[in-house]
Amino acid sequence: MLITDQTSRRRIPTTADMVSRMCGIAASVLKNGDVGPVLFDCLKKLEYRGYDSVGEASIIDGKIIVKKDKGKISEVERELHISDLRGNVGIGHTRWATHGAPSRENAHPHTDCTDTVAVVHNGIVENFMQLKQELEAKGHKFKSRTDTEVVAHLVEENLRNGRSFAEAVRLAANKLTGAYALAFICTSEPDKVVCVRKESPLVIGTAANGNFCASDIPAFLSRTNQAILLEDNEMAILTADQVRIVQIETGEAVNRKPFTVEWSIETALKTGFPHFMLKEIHEQPMTVRNALRTHPIYMDLMASAINKAKKVFLVACGTSYHACLGGAYAFSNLAKAEVTPVVASEFIDGHGALVDGDTVVLVVSQSGETADTLSAVRGAKDRGATILGISNTMGSTLTRLSDVYIGQNSGPEMGVAATKTFTAQLSVLIKLAVVLARKREFLRKSELETIEAGFQQLPNWISTVLSTQQDSVRRIVERYSDRSSLCFLGRGMSVATALEGRLKLLELSYLPAIAYPAGESKHGFISVVEEGYPVIFVAPRDESYSKIIGNVMEMKARGAKIISIVDEKDGEVARLSDDVIVVPPGVPSMLTPIVFVLPLQLFAYYMSVGKGYDPDFPRNLAKSVTVH
Ligand code: AGP
Ligand code: GLU
Repeated sequence: MLITDQTSRRRIPTTADMVSRMCGIAASVLKNGDVGPVLFDCLKKLEYRGYDSVGEASIIDGKIIVKKDKGKISEVERELHISDLRGNVGIGHTRWATHGAPSRENAHPHTDCTDTVAVVHNGIVENFMQLKQELEAKGHKFKSRTDTEVVAHLVEENLRNGRSFAEAVRLAANKLTGAYALAFICTSEPDKVVCVRKESPLVIGTAANGNFCASDIPAFLSRTNQAILLEDNEMAILTADQVRIVQIETGEAVNRKPFTVEWSIETALKTGFPHFMLKEIHEQPMTVRNALRTHPIYMDLMASAINKAKKVFLVACGTSYHACLGGAYAFSNLAKAEVTPVVASEFIDGHGALVDGDTVVLVVSQSGETADTLSAVRGAKDRGATILGISNTMGSTLTRLSDVYIGQNSGPEMGVAATKTFTAQLSVLIKLAVVLARKREFLRKSELETIEAGFQQLPNWISTVLSTQQDSVRRIVERYSDRSSLCFLGRGMSVATALEGRLKLLELSYLPAIAYPAGESKHGFISVVEEGYPVIFVAPRDESYSKIIGNVMEMKARGAKIISIVDEKDGEVARLSDDVIVVPPGVPSMLTPIVFVLPLQLFAYYMSVGKGYDPDFPRNLAKSVTVH
């Protein structure tokens, strides 16, 4: 929880705020044993972040040994046996290329001319071109096309000028503009890892047998639950029994104690499911319950800010944006609050002129690191808006930029496709709408009681859907697995559900799926429909039900195959459908997306698996989209 004076936290965004922060870095310095298997394990845990190349380096007999190549960790392991790397000190990397194509040369770690220093990097060095020219003029020879390699040569220069390893890194970091989490090893001080951070995530883990640093906590959680968050512009010097933190700019010491990470390692692993995605779908009874446990004080602070504001926007990307669509519908229908949902990449251009000191921007981001979302936040802050954040990642940039933030408490989400975090975000947003409605006294007591009771019931409803419908969803997927496109339709609150069902299918099965508010479908989409075209209707028995029957008829009349998600198996929509998925009855209208989206998540999962794809790692996507 963070509340700050807006003016004191305002700053002008620079291009350095808008750069890539994908991939993962890991480093370790051990008292006993070899780093190879340890780093290999850390990199596997970072796999979900998205990457194209893998590498490790350690120091053996006073020499830096690097093993790296493009490809998946398992492929590079088969080829190079990276997990066999010996030595007590090492660094590892999963790369998501920004400068230079994925290749062995461009994979990290990178070394200097003399192979004294090796570095891994997450981020972008903006001024690398200028630095590279300066270094080349001094005789440095470059082996890759990355921005990262300049850093190794800068450190080499400083070492040559008699600096210690840590000081050489610190001075090099002071020359960089852009964003970086960097970890180094060096043959002249082979008992250390030095790491620095500016605007890319970096966490330190401390254990009895040594110390770690990594892009996030799951990387080392199986070895230690003691973590220290490195802040921007800080450097850490790790030896096997000590962690020393200093400011990059001044070298001044920083005192920070480790905190205990409450997650169990099981939370971060697949727990017997074939994929993280399926595991995370099945976690939803728990994660929705946890999301609804948000402390009332924070909810009240947020509701008060929204209540006072003249304009309120809901801003996010992708799945988080779909949660915002549902959230906006709930704010309007429960609390009579006008809240405008906007995709983050369009926010400042489309609405920036309206944003001022009377504006609240409620920002939703699972990772809290999405570049489009963060630049919308910075643009809004710059215009004096109050920022309210909902994120799954405490300590993320979003939580640091927010005036008030709420954690959605979903635990780490490894699958690239957001599932449990969508239902958690919706739960938080709808609860917030209810808190605001109470404040405004707009809801009748009976309505409030129905929704409150619905919140209590949600985990049971979710469990019921997952335990009773999984097989029928799988069978339906088999029937439609040869189709080249599908459409999702819903009305009212279910528009958000339909759009999210479409996004899941699209990103995991690479099918050009379509989604519309059902009423809009006759204004264009209907021309696509021909004999056998599958249309999925999200059709809860709510105020939209009678109208959706008409939409089903329209599609059926043109030969569409109707797949419906309904809460009454004998209702009109079910009777008109070719395939029916039945969820429990009685879910209050505002909560329906949290239940009705579940079969759609399973639908996308089975379609992806059926086509032989890996639903945890869809092509071209990364968990945290940190480029514009
Ligand atoms: C969801 O399945 C997607 N992978 C993606 O759309 C995601 O929701 C989006 O990038 C936003 O991420 P965030 O919530 O971490 O900001
Ligand atoms: N900019 C670096 C590169 O392209 C690091 C990218 C990353 O964060 O993976 O190699």
